[in-house]
Amino acid sequence: MVTGSTSPSTARAEPPGPLDDAGYNFLPPRLRAQLAVLPSLMRNPPEYFAQTARRYGGMVTLSPKRAYLVTDLDGIKHVLQDNHTNYIKGPWYQVLRPLMGDGLFSIDGDDWKRQRRLVQPAFQRKHHARMAGIMVDSTSRMLDRWEPYASRAEAMDGRAEVILLTLEILLRNMFSGDLTGSEEVLRESILDCSRHMDLVGAVKLVKVLTWFRFAKRRRFERGVRTLDQFVLHVIEERRRNQIDNGDLVSLLLWARDEQTGESMSDHQLRDELKTMLQAGNDTVADAIAWTWYLLAKHPEVRERLELEVDSVLQGRPPGFEDLPALVYTQRVIMETMRLYPPGWVFARSAVKDDVIGGYRIAADALVIISPYVMHRLPSLWEDAEKFDPDRFLAERSQGRPRFAYFPFSAGPRQCIGADVAMMETKMIVAMAAQRYRLSVPADFSPGLKARISLTADCAITLTPIARQPHLGCCSS
Ligand code: HEM
Repeated sequence: MVTGSTSPSTARAEPPGPLDDAGYNFLPPRLRAQLAVLPSLMRNPPEYFAQTARRYGGMVTLSPKRAYLVTDLDGIKHVLQDNHTNYIKGPWYQVLRPLMGDGLFSIDGDDWKRQRRLVQPAFQRKHHARMAGIMVDSTSRMLDRWEPYASRAEAMDGRAEVILLTLEILLRNMFSGDLTGSEEVLRESILDCSRHMDLVGAVKLVKVLTWFRFAKRRRFERGVRTLDQFVLHVIEERRRNQIDNGDLVSLLLWARDEQTGESMSDHQLRDELKTMLQAGNDTVADAIAWTWYLLAKHPEVRERLELEVDSVLQGRPPGFEDLPALVYTQRVIMETMRLYPPGWVFARSAVKDDVIGGYRIAADALVIISPYVMHRLPSLWEDAEKFDPDRFLAERSQGRPRFAYFPFSAGPRQCIGADVAMMETKMIVAMAAQRYRLSVPADFSPGLKARISLTADCAITLTPIARQPHLGCCSS
């Protein structure tokens, strides 16, 4: 398909889409789009997009001149990489502002560039070993807490467990010495915020549903206030006492832009920290919860993973330096994030008229891109619905297009925390596999809940069964 090179004035007008089959031709297009698209979309957004892409092809009109789903590989590359300056986060992301403020996730243009330069160094590899130590310590304590479940063969809510763990890790990595006495309140505030910051809020953008229901909104606002106060208090204290202890707050507080020498204002720093508390928690927790679910469903994969973990770690906790050897574990996580990418959708607004896949995209139109859809397209993936970690073996990955798989997005706005997230997921999955086999009921098959992160629509009930590592054996 032609992308970018054709002039918008000679490009074709509208790609096919669900409106073509919708009837109600007497109604205005916008209303037709709402009737034809929104009811099914709201039932199961990821699956609706996947089915729509399979039916209508690489460019789909969801609302004429206003919203398109792009699954054309060149089109995605064009939006995320080649012509990324024409595709800003824009209004779609305004809904995140009450929570993330002017943090990296939601800003655009020169503000984004400056912030990204300031924040990026905090995620460099040299800081990973310190973060890994915290991950191991917190994970060990969670696994100890599982012992009563294992001894009673009792099921627990795997996602609830891991969300508390990832939050503890994030808070310790950010605010190492500032948490005494505030952890509980902070945890509740963050969970309240993320619970109420879901797709329903985003849909307000197309002015169909109302803002959060009143009571939920109150809890959300209270959560944001608590977070704001805590974070600003920490920043103030750190500045006053010139504290630099190497945690994430310090790395950001004392960061200087190499080009301009500027640092972040308190307001910017507060918003970056709040952004990370949201962007870096549910996503990692969902990646781990889905991995546990899929391992429990596929005993042959779980056994290979256990064999590798036992052989590489020989019964000790993982160190940062062990991670490269956990190659099968890595493939399992990549395959989980293929089927259940936590960042399952994102959107951009066109700044100027453009062409994607031979079709005209008007300025201000919304372009939707979904890793969930791309990761399951039968034209890109053999046996796309099958859980098969070995599809990520080098020899089976050759020739796979870059934009067939992008759980952390791609181009300049790809996830800043991708390496940390992979490290954390690997450590937690490996450590859990050392001590427990996790099982799910045979007929357990959760549906999807499309929040900002792709989560299960029910608790992931896992029963831990204690195991002893097999030492001295060889990995697969
Ligand atoms: C498995 C875990 C994670 C997944 C799947 C994930 C996925 C993504 C995706 C898809 C985007 C692009 C979103 C868009 O363009 O709208 C993104 C951006 C971002 N992520 Fe992550 N993320 C993860 C973990 C983290 C962590 C641990 C952090 C930080 C602590 C983080 C911080 C961010 C930030 C700040 C951005 C915005 C970057 C920018 O626009 O410059 N993420 N992430």
